Amino acid sequence: MPLRLDFTNMMAGPLPGGAGLTAAQWAEGAARFATAHAGVMARHAAGTLGFIDLPTDAALRDRVLATAATHGAGISDVLLLGIGGSALGPIALRSALRPPHWNELDDARRGGHPRLHVLDNVDPVTIEATLARLPLAHTLVLVISKSGGTVETMAQYLIVRAALEAAVGEAHARQRLGVITEPGGGALRAVARAEGIPTLDIPPHVGGRVSVLSPVGLLPAALIGIDVGGVPDGAAAMAARCATPTLADNPAGVFATMQWLADREHGAHVHVLMPYADALRDIAAWFVQLWAESLGKIRPDGSHVGPTPLPALGATDQHAQVQLFMEGPADKTVTFLAVDGKEALGPIPARHADRPELGYLGGHTLGRLLDIERQATAGALAARGRLNATITLPAVTPGTVGALLYLLELATAYAGELYEVNAFDQPGVELGKQFAYAMLGRAGSEAARAEWDALPRPDPRWQV
Ligand code: PA5
Repeated sequence: MPLRLDFTNMMAGPLPGGAGLTAAQWAEGAARFATAHAGVMARHAAGTLGFIDLPTDAALRDRVLATAATHGAGISDVLLLGIGGSALGPIALRSALRPPHWNELDDARRGGHPRLHVLDNVDPVTIEATLARLPLAHTLVLVISKSGGTVETMAQYLIVRAALEAAVGEAHARQRLGVITEPGGGALRAVARAEGIPTLDIPPHVGGRVSVLSPVGLLPAALIGIDVGGVPDGAAAMAARCATPTLADNPAGVFATMQWLADREHGAHVHVLMPYADALRDIAAWFVQLWAESLGKIRPDGSHVGPTPLPALGATDQHAQVQLFMEGPADKTVTFLAVDGKEALGPIPARHADRPELGYLGGHTLGRLLDIERQATAGALAARGRLNATITLPAVTPGTVGALLYLLELATAYAGELYEVNAFDQPGVELGKQFAYAMLGRAGSEAARAEWDALPRPDPRWQV
């Protein structure tokens, strides 16, 4: 059964008190979506949306499998260096498609596949601790950067390479390195070429945050034993469902249009993604980067737009953020991620029949409890006129995860058209980057240094 998106609780009819999208708004959304769909098709035809080609790129899949077979041999650990889109996709795939606590399982329970560690930051405490516990002689270091020059990843690389060489010697260290970057250039590509370090390409026009179905996500996934045929196959099936410009039949279109309309017509500018499955928790983190960096933009007319994505986790957040979702400002949509087929899992033993707080649980299961709690939360939100929707996966498999990731990627492209922004650039991160370069003394950042020096300094009057 395919993944399904139920948006009943986004609509005015079922929701009380004038909340929800009206039929007229939905009709306007459908018309705007047809234009957005055409816009995405045109951008794809012009060659600027490479992520759309990834699900059906069989040659890419073959290269990934061949590389994993060559470099996976004799490896107990993979250490992935990267940040943002170069790290969040691999983390999401590992959490979704490997058993919980993967890195703590012994070799037999990992089926002989390596552990996967992802740095995703430059906190020295974490990096030192990670290096201290890794068997570097049996560790494959994958350096992933689309641009090949991102400061955090380059710093990670310099530190990890030095540690690797100290542990296993220069020649052996080189064999323990792999690079994933774009063909065009960057320091990383130049170093890899000069030193003969095996390199896989990120295809052109595949942005970092939509690179999970490229070698960025697939190679680490293949190394840890995930079925990397299934993930793109699921994405391709979703792509086929989304070929239509008819809103009612296009899941990614519905997701994008309902969020855009909720934001524009109802002030629901906070978009919560709330899985009721620990396995999907890191997909919510991945979505945050995708939605925020793609849609938070200045439009051509100078206005600022962009929904704020917010991750949550069911049932944990029923004891935290759900209070805010129910009674805080009505400025949110909540999209639940549900997983079918867990009803029989986690039987709860019958005990303390005489205690009302305990007795009723006996005979139920944790799977049922979790799903009932999701339904109850969705119903409670709807009862108070709070907009919500549910994406249901029939099970967490490579196919359904691929379909979900692709749905959200394509929805982001559609939303870019609806908000009338370029979803695939990120000019807003540039100034901070330039200031950091200036403070680190990188050549060419003199203008940023001057701007930085002219900024107001911390004022003791405003400190406590
Ligand atoms: O989505 C993006 O393009 C960014 O968030 C990048 O993923 C992030 O900045 C890392 O860039 P790179 O892969 O070039 O090192």
